[in-house]
Amino acid sequence: MFQPKPISRAAPALLYAELAQQLEGLLAGERDAIANAANTAALIFTTLPDLNWAGFYFLRGDTLVLGPFQGNPACVRIAMGRGVCGAAAQRRETLRVDDVKAFPDHIACDSASRSELVVPLIRDGAVIGVLDLDSPIPGRFDSIDQAGLERIAAIFVTGSDAP
Ligand code: SME
Repeated sequence: MFQPKPISRAAPALLYAELAQQLEGLLAGERDAIANAANTAALIFTTLPDLNWAGFYFLRGDTLVLGPFQGNPACVRIAMGRGVCGAAAQRRETLRVDDVKAFPDHIACDSASRSELVVPLIRDGAVIGVLDLDSPIPGRFDSIDQAGLERIAAIFVTGSDAP
C-alpha cells in the first residue's frame, strides 16, 4: 500500500522535489491516464497543505470535462477560454490567481476557494487538459508552487497514455 510521506512546509523547493519523486514511484509501470490522474490528484491533495480541491479537466473537443479529483463535487464542463481553467488552456500557460474574486471570469465551483493555480497539460505541443488546484487561503500559491506543480503535470503527461 502506498503511503504518502508527510511533507514539511518549511522548505517548499525540497517539498516539491520529494513530491515529484513520490509521483514518479506512484506512476511507475502504469500508463492508464485515468488511474494515473486519480493517484496524482490524491497525492497532491493529501500532501500539500491548505487545499480544498485538486484535480484534472481533460479536453474533449473544445470543452474541458471534469476528470479525477479530490475535494467537493465540481463543475463538469468548462468551455475553452472560460474561467481560470479555460483561460490557462487557451493561453497554454500556467495561471496563478491570488484572489479568485478579482478574476472576472472565475467559475465558482466551490465557494471556499480563494486562490487558484491552473497548469495546462501539453502533449506533443497540444493542450490535452489542465491540472487545477484551489485553496481557501488568498495568495496560497507562489512561484515555487507553480514550478513544482508544472513538474508534477509533466510527470503525469509523460507517464500516461492519452486520456
Ligand atoms: N474555478 C475554476 C473552475 C474549476 S473548479 O475550481 C474545480 C475556474 O474558474 O476555471
